[in-house]
Amino acid sequence: MATSPRILAFSGSARKESLNRKFLAVTVQAVREAGGEVTLLDLNDYVLPLYHGDLEEAEGMPANATKLIELITSHQALLIASPEYNSMITPLLKNTIDWCTRADDNPFEGKVAAVISASPGALGAVRSLVMVQNLLLKLGCHVVPGQVFLPHANQAFDEAGALKEPRSLKGVKTMVAALVAEAGRFTG
Ligand SMILES: Cc1cc2nc3c(=O)[nH]c(=O)nc-3n(C[C@H](O)[C@H](O)[C@H](O)COP(=O)(O)O)c2cc1C
Repeated sequence: MATSPRILAFSGSARKESLNRKFLAVTVQAVREAGGEVTLLDLNDYVLPLYHGDLEEAEGMPANATKLIELITSHQALLIASPEYNSMITPLLKNTIDWCTRADDNPFEGKVAAVISASPGALGAVRSLVMVQNLLLKLGCHVVPGQVFLPHANQAFDEAGALKEPRSLKGVKTMVAALVAEAGRFTG
C-alpha cells in the first residue's frame, strides 16, 4: 500500500486573525482530501530570537530551531503561507528559515515545497510568494510551480473560515494535486 506523503505546513504570520493562517487552513484541508498527511505548525509554538551570529556562537542552536529542523527533516514536503510586508517576505518567516539553515546538514535540500499567499491588497502578496519560491529553490527544494495567491483576503472568508468564492479554490486544488503527487514520489 502506498504511504501518504508527509507535508509540514506553516504560515509566515503568527497573528491570531492572520489571513495567511486562514488561507493555509483551507489549503491544508485540500491537501488532506488529496491524500496528503499534514502536520500543521503554529510558529507561536516555536518562538526564536532574531538570528545573530554572536548569539549562535555563545549559545548554539535554540531548542525551537532544533525542533523545527527535525520536523522539516521528517517530512517529504513543505507548504508555506507567505504574507507580504513592504513587498517582501515577513521577518518571522525569514528568521525561521535562516535559523533552520544553520543546521549541520541543510534540512531543505530535496524537499518538495509549495508556497501560497494572501493579503487584503489587490496583488494578494504575490511578490512575497515569488521571493519565498526563489529562496526555497536556492535552498535545494523542488518548488511546485504556479502562483496561488488570494487578493482581497480580508473579504474572502466566511465566519467558519471557508472561502466565500468557490472559484478561489480551483487554483488551490490544482497546486495541491501537484504537491501531493510530487511529495508522493519521495515516500517509501
Ligand atoms: C509592515 C507592513 C507592511 C505591509 N506591506 C504590504 C505589502 O507590501 N503588500 C501587501 O499586500 N500587504 C502589505 N501589508 C498588509 C498585510 O498584507 C496585511 O497586514 C496582512 O493581513 C498580513 O498578513 P496576515 O493577515 O497573514 O497577518 C503590510 C502590513 C504591514 C504590517
